[in-house]
Parts: sequence; C-alpha cells; structure tokens
Amino acid sequence: MDGARTFYVTTPIYYVNDKPHIGHAYTTLACDVLARFKRLDGFAVKFLTGTDEHGQKVEKSAEAAGLTPQALADMNSANFRELAQRLEISNDDFIRTTEPRHIAACQALWQRLVDNGAITLGHYEGWYSVRDEAFYAEDELIAGPQGQKLAPTGAPVEWVKEPSYFFHLSQWQEKLLAYYEASPDCIAPQSRRNEVLSFVKGGLQDLSVSRTSFTWGIPVPNDPKHVMYVWLDALANYITAIGYPETGGEYARWWPADLHMVGKDILRFHTVYWPAFLMAAGLEPPRRVFAHGWWTNEGQKISKSVGNVIDPVMLIERYGLDQVRYFLMREVPFGNDGDYSHRAMVGRMNSELANDFGNLAQRVLSMIGKNCGAQVPQHGEWTAEDREMLGAAHGLLETVRGALDRQLFHEALEAMWVVVRAANGYVDRQAPWGLKKTDPARMGTVLWVLAETTRHLAMLAQPFMPGSAARLLDQLSIPEGERSFVFLTPKHALKPGVALPAPQGVFPRFIETEAEAG
Ligand code: MSP
Repeated sequence: MDGARTFYVTTPIYYVNDKPHIGHAYTTLACDVLARFKRLDGFAVKFLTGTDEHGQKVEKSAEAAGLTPQALADMNSANFRELAQRLEISNDDFIRTTEPRHIAACQALWQRLVDNGAITLGHYEGWYSVRDEAFYAEDELIAGPQGQKLAPTGAPVEWVKEPSYFFHLSQWQEKLLAYYEASPDCIAPQSRRNEVLSFVKGGLQDLSVSRTSFTWGIPVPNDPKHVMYVWLDALANYITAIGYPETGGEYARWWPADLHMVGKDILRFHTVYWPAFLMAAGLEPPRRVFAHGWWTNEGQKISKSVGNVIDPVMLIERYGLDQVRYFLMREVPFGNDGDYSHRAMVGRMNSELANDFGNLAQRVLSMIGKNCGAQVPQHGEWTAEDREMLGAAHGLLETVRGALDRQLFHEALEAMWVVVRAANGYVDRQAPWGLKKTDPARMGTVLWVLAETTRHLAMLAQPFMPGSAARLLDQLSIPEGERSFVFLTPKHALKPGVALPAPQGVFPRFIETEAEAG
C-alpha cells in the first residue's frame, strides 16, 4: 500500500472509570464506518481507539471500588477492547495511556513545550470539576438546585489551590483564529465551528496543566511532585500512536490526523487546547474535528443515577450487530442529538433492512436461482428503464463518498436506499416472474440489471454492515479480492454464466413478543 493516499482517524480515548455504553459505541462505530470505507476506496488507513486511564476521576472511582487505579484501568480497558470486538470494529491500534510508549511521548511533548517557553511554573487558584476533568472560570458556573455552584455541564466543582504549571493559552488566540480561518473544514458541523470561534474570540486564559494534590498521572519531567493535567496527557495519545517523539517515519506518514471524531461535550479540548499545544510544540494541528450529538434513551437523558444506560452488547444480542450498526448510523442526522427507542430500532430494522433491502435481494436471488439455472443470467439490449436503473447504481459510489467525506452517514445511507426503493419499483414494473414464459431473454436482462444493482448496494453496504454485506456478496459469487470500490465499474459487472449459491435471507425481521409490543 506504499504510496497510497493515507487516512488517519481517531476516536476519543474512553475514561476507564465507567463501563462502555451506547455513546462510546456510537463514536467508535462512526470511525469504523469511515475507516472501512476508506480502505475499500484505496486509502492506507490508520484507525486508532483506546482508553484514557489517568486523572483524579479514575483515582476516585478506583478508591470507591476498593481497587488500585491500575487494577481498575486494566479491568475497564479490557471492557472497551471487548466492546470493539463485539462491534466488529476494525481499529489498527488500541492505545492505553498507562503504556510506557505513551508516558515517554507525553513527557517528550511536555519537555518540548517547556523548551519553547510555552509552559512555566505558577500557582493555580480556581474551580475544578473532577467529573469533567476541567477548570472553570467563576462566570461560567451555574447555580444548582440548592444554590450551590455547578459547572455549566451540571457537574460539581471544587475550589483548588496549589502550585501548578501553566500553558500560555492566552498567547494563542490570534494563531488559533488564523488556523480556523485558513482551514474552513477543520471544525464540523458549522454550528460547532461557530461556537468555538466565538469562544476563542472572547479571549483565552492560561491553562493549568499540572496538579500536585493527587498522584495518578504522568509525572512532570524534572518535577515529579506534579502530574500532568489529564487532558494534556490524553490528547497526546493521537501522536504517541504514530511514534512521537520521532517525527519522521510513521509520524510523517500519518500526521496531521485527517479526523478526530468526538462528542460535542469534548469539542473545546480538541479544537482549542489541542491545536494550541501542537502549534506551541512546533507540530501541525489536526485537519478536522467532527463533534457529533448525544443519544437519549426513550426521550430521557442517559445517566447512571436514572439507571437507563444502554448497554451496546445487550442491543447486539437483541437485534443483531448489523441492525444496530445500521440504526445508529441512519436514525439521526450525524451531528444532531438523537433518541434511541425500541420502536425506532424495530422500525428501521423491519422496514428498511428486512422489507426494502432484504426483500429486494431475496426476490432477485431466488428468481435467478429458480429461473436462470442458478447462474448470473445473460442480458440483451438495455431499455431506457434498464439504463436508468444501472445509472442510479453506478452513480452511488460518488454520492456515498461525498457524504462520508463530510461525515454525513445518514445521507450516505439515504442515497443507497433511494436506489433500493428504485430497484423495488423496477422489479414491480418489469414483473420478471411474468416474463418466464413470454420472453425469457427479457427476463434474463431484467434479473441481470437487478443483480448488478444489488452488487453495487452490497459493496457499498460493507462499511456499515460488514457481515451482512459479505453474505450478500457471497451469494452473488463475488470473490473476496473483488470487493473494493475499484470493482464498482461496468467493466467489472457481473459475468453471465457465473454459478450462484442457493440464496438465503440476510436481514431477518424482528418479531415482537406480546411483552415487548405491550
Ligand atoms: N476521556 C475523554 C476523551 C479524551 S480524548 C483525548 C472522554 N471520555 S468519555 O469516556 O467520557 O467519553 C467519550 C465519548 O463518548 C465522548 O466523545 C462523548 O461525547 C461520548 N458520549 C458519552 N455519552 C454519550 C451519549 N449519551 N451519546 C453520544 N455520545 C456520548 O470524554
């Protein structure tokens, strides 16, 4: 793959104080779809995920659980790794911030920032939220139900007073604004970009980047009473994984990252702090950060105290992996908040997967099986309608690519379903079952057009639903080596005469039991 265009995509690294839930699954899944798409589209891809293991939050959770922070981290990091496997995530690396490679990279980054005069020792006095692992200014705080001060996220805050190293963020306002200006796509969606711009235009304060009141963190070089602020530590994972402090080789190949995928709650860390740290270290800022929305559960905010946390493994067991992957990418315009509900899940699963796509494939493949000797049929001259159908299928790659380059997963899927619905309409109008006796040659042509359309759909479904798409492609006898997108051309269309295996349904319906329907 040397010389291939590269694509480096990252998920946030997940805090190990918590079990994986739907929010984590969502971010990782979105990155997986992109990574798979890019690989099939000829890119060399690096897809990174992992766990964020230091900081006061993890230290406190470990204490509450009667574990050492390392033991808690080991246990929960394994849960995240396992979730990635259950979701069939195709990550190339899994980073843990307690690994020696990361500690070394972080300390090198710190030293570089010190050498460049970007970090100096001072004294911090102000508000800190352990839950958010974030500092807040007095005027950002809101009043809680008992009049107590809370972070703007609703998290408790405490007054912190200790010696601390500071990163001179206040000096980066102009350079950050110049970076946003020079790369209009570096923050998406647009509304999030506006949010960041107005935050930075409002002025930046220096940032406390070390703590002395606890020890679960990476020691500051030459001053081990201090541990690094967990966000400086965490953000650096993106360059650790490509070999920093080496800046040749792998680093040069992958950096700047093409995309950091994040939730809207951690936008500021990725679009203000992170590019400032990088620029201060003489490194390039990322190409793009996309902030997606949050899921609610049946209309309610998801929270441990409410007890409505959605376990992605439970969803997979109940509805099927590809059904869950499809739902999460289709249900909500990517970037917006969305609501999970059993009804919505079953609706998508039964109407779009089982009825629309599943039925199309099943009808076409079983007609070919019964009427064409279980071989790809011969085709004759195209009618205008055939051409229109094939044209729609051939145009799909470009549309899907365009949507995914902007992380618009829902638009990519909608474009595919426009073709699925068109193909179902075409079957109904052409009624190939009636042609068997009257015009078998025309029946062959119609079924070929449909099978070729199904090939395009199944190929493009691979990043979203890898297992189901593979089963469909198997049923079309497409060899494993011919499933990348260079094969989506008329030249590589289905060859008449190729034997096809017995068709099998790929998208089962969800049958409600009475209790579930109730
Ligand atoms: N450790 C930091 C990230 C450091 S990246 C250098 C962190 N971890 S987290 O585990 O709390 O959250 C990880 C991601 O999960 C965030 O992108 C967050 O937006 C996402 N989600 C958490 N709950 C969510 C929903 N209910 N819905 C969608 N995504 C949500 O932040």
